[in-house]
Amino acid sequence: MTDDPTTTTDPVEQRPSLHTDIGRQRREQHNDVHLTLEDISVRYGSFTAVRGVSLEVPRNEITALIGPSGCGKSTLLRTMNRMNDLIPGASVTGTLRYNGEDIYDADIDPVEVRRRIGMVFQKPNPFPKSIYDNVAFGPRLNGAKHGLDEVVERSLRRAALWDEVKDKLDQSGLSLSGGQQQRLCIARAIAVDPDVILMDEPCSALDPIATLRIEELMQEMTSDYTIVIVTHNMQQAARVSDRTAFFTVDMDDQRKERTGVLVEVDDTETIFTRASDERTEAYITGRFG
Ligand SMILES: Nc1ncnc2c1ncn2[C@@H]1O[C@H](COP(=O)(O)OP(=O)(O)OP(=O)(O)O)[C@@H](O)[C@H]1O
Ligand SMILES: [Mg+2]
Repeated sequence: MTDDPTTTTDPVEQRPSLHTDIGRQRREQHNDVHLTLEDISVRYGSFTAVRGVSLEVPRNEITALIGPSGCGKSTLLRTMNRMNDLIPGASVTGTLRYNGEDIYDADIDPVEVRRRIGMVFQKPNPFPKSIYDNVAFGPRLNGAKHGLDEVVERSLRRAALWDEVKDKLDQSGLSLSGGQQQRLCIARAIAVDPDVILMDEPCSALDPIATLRIEELMQEMTSDYTIVIVTHNMQQAARVSDRTAFFTVDMDDQRKERTGVLVEVDDTETIFTRASDERTEAYITGRFG
């Protein structure tokens, strides 16, 4: 293999690099792993919220993070696109690689990380702007001036919302139903062309029909995207995800500290039918948490 990206045919070389010197570290990466977490710990000040998580997120699959409230699922999800940088006092140790590159490297631009690795939140949060402007927001911020109509249409189509809104693009995003608003937020995330999408309980504010719509959409999206979803809904994790990671809270009686730890990660079917750890089974069968 050569270092010159113009002369290689390795498909791994075609993937976007966060570094300008395309190809650096790229070949180290296993083809099918999109995000690699190695011994990740997250602290808020002196409090350790999550300790020692090692996890691989496969490309074009849905990975579910489950576990009781306070075990650090949202905290861990935010490490995956450096959103914790925005929280005063939060610090991350360990290594987190995207396409083989450490996203916490000193020369990596966190804004670029968040463009590649988008996020959808629990409560649909459209901006108080038109449907069109919601979707065009990110591309405009990145300096796009031309072709916005195409980007908006493509993103809304991919978020399975186009048919419902194509005749009212100038109406406020806030005029949509909750489920439509969440798909609008997915369209807004997609518009800047990410390849990983992090979703923190994206359906918890939605009714069962809107929830199923989002779940179907997530499954359609795996042809283009890698998805990591936090959910409290065990049926949802079982229905949509390929892999499931179960977290719990480790109680340190001396320090009176509750720290989130990864118990196990496996194929979703395995986790739900023959988990290795009894704590996982207790949680998913509703005996704990
Ligand atoms: N900004 C913050 N500052 C200080 N502590 C925080 C902050 N955010 C979260 N924590 C603490 O970190 C721990 C993990 O919180 P986190 O929100 O990640 O849990 P979670 O698993 O997402 O819970 P839930 O299921 O209730 O959403 C908790 O003890 C929480 O109080
Ligand atoms: Mg949370």
